[in-house]
Amino acid sequence: MDSIRIRGGRPLNGTIAIGGAKNAALPLMAVSLLTEDPIEFTNMPTLADLATMGSLLGELGVELTRTVDDTSNEPVVRLQARKITATEAPYDLVRKMRASVVVMGPLLARAGKARVSMPGGCAIGTRPVDLHLKALEALGAEIELKEGYIQATAPNGLSGGHILFPKVSVGATENALMAATLAHGDTVIANAAREPEITDLANCLTEMGAKITGIGTDTLRITGVDQLSGTRHRVLPDRIETGTYAAAAAITGGELTLTNTRAELIESVIDLLERAGVEVTETKDGLKVNRANCELRGVDSMTEPYPGFPTDMQAQIMAMMTVATGAAMITETIFENRFMHVPELCRMGADINVHGASAIVRGVKKLSGAPVMATDLRASVSLVLAGLAAEGETQVNRVYHLDRGYERLEEKLAACGADIARVAGV
Ligand code: UD1
Repeated sequence: MDSIRIRGGRPLNGTIAIGGAKNAALPLMAVSLLTEDPIEFTNMPTLADLATMGSLLGELGVELTRTVDDTSNEPVVRLQARKITATEAPYDLVRKMRASVVVMGPLLARAGKARVSMPGGCAIGTRPVDLHLKALEALGAEIELKEGYIQATAPNGLSGGHILFPKVSVGATENALMAATLAHGDTVIANAAREPEITDLANCLTEMGAKITGIGTDTLRITGVDQLSGTRHRVLPDRIETGTYAAAAAITGGELTLTNTRAELIESVIDLLERAGVEVTETKDGLKVNRANCELRGVDSMTEPYPGFPTDMQAQIMAMMTVATGAAMITETIFENRFMHVPELCRMGADINVHGASAIVRGVKKLSGAPVMATDLRASVSLVLAGLAAEGETQVNRVYHLDRGYERLEEKLAACGADIARVAGV
């Protein structure tokens, strides 16, 4: 298995272009199941999770082709489901990537049935799918759990309904929204997730002819239509990749310009960085993050649904706080068990104590390099950040987690002065 070797202690300086958002691209790809017309995407990142989604969609009858735009020369990913040829998301794919469950809503809406493996536990908590199922039931689906699979049917099509989520869920909102676009009648989704990826999905569906109001708010109203048509859509910039590189500039005491992104997507992260003493300036196509010659201060944070501080940035900010002056309390409210990076950061010399859902991080002068590994994507990248700031050599194992969500990570960091390389495993 490949690993990443980092020799730390060098401030990063330069420009990094941010890619399209993985978490927007996953449901956007599933949108192709809703129409027989082709859907084309630009700014689609090349990531392992999206390849997994491509394989799943391929099994369901979606043809995926890659072309290049004649005028801009940009790569274009084209998806077309002339016919749904299968309606099952098998265990092997769902086990690999939980987000596969977003095919359930579109399959039910277009084909009237879906058989999706239950995702089961995962590294960052139990992560049930009850909210997805309740939402689809509210739209008239009949659901049975059998042999580890969710069997959902709507032989006469879905019908509009009132969905009130007791808890904010990104994936369940996406499933409900996609399903409702082709349901008969009106649907209200209350306490909907407001993440920018939901807005991007709703905008794409609108371009395809869906009738949605309340986009960007916590109440989405959808009037079902008989059919949707194709479109060309640009995938939203990745706000978590943006925040991760902003944290890389901060932890190394460097200055990075992040392009092809938007500061407004990470307002809560920028607020935290500024409170910690980092200078952030909005630019015309992104932001500039500067921590050259200023001290990093410990500040508290708590993860919340958007527009609050994102759980997907918690590990990276914790890495940053390990070398800040003073202490920081970091509270995780979205996922239980999302502190697996803590023991690994401690092996690098960090001083962190976990009490329930909170971690107290007391800043140390220096981290020291060590062999480390993590069991999820954001935890893994937090160890890369720690390695960039540490004295000596760090080896981050299980790189496949990073490949799920960061495109050309080591290349982008090396171009800004990091001493980082991928080491082929045996
Ligand atoms: C998405 C993101 C993930 C991010 C998370 C929270 C994708 C592909 N992944 O995951 O990177 O960390 O949002 O911002 O977009 N829950 C239930 N029942 C359900 C569904 C969720 O109890 O049926 C709970 C979860 O266990 C969790 C909380 O709701 O505690 C939020 O989860 P959710 O927003 O659904 O996360 P995902 O969509 O899986």
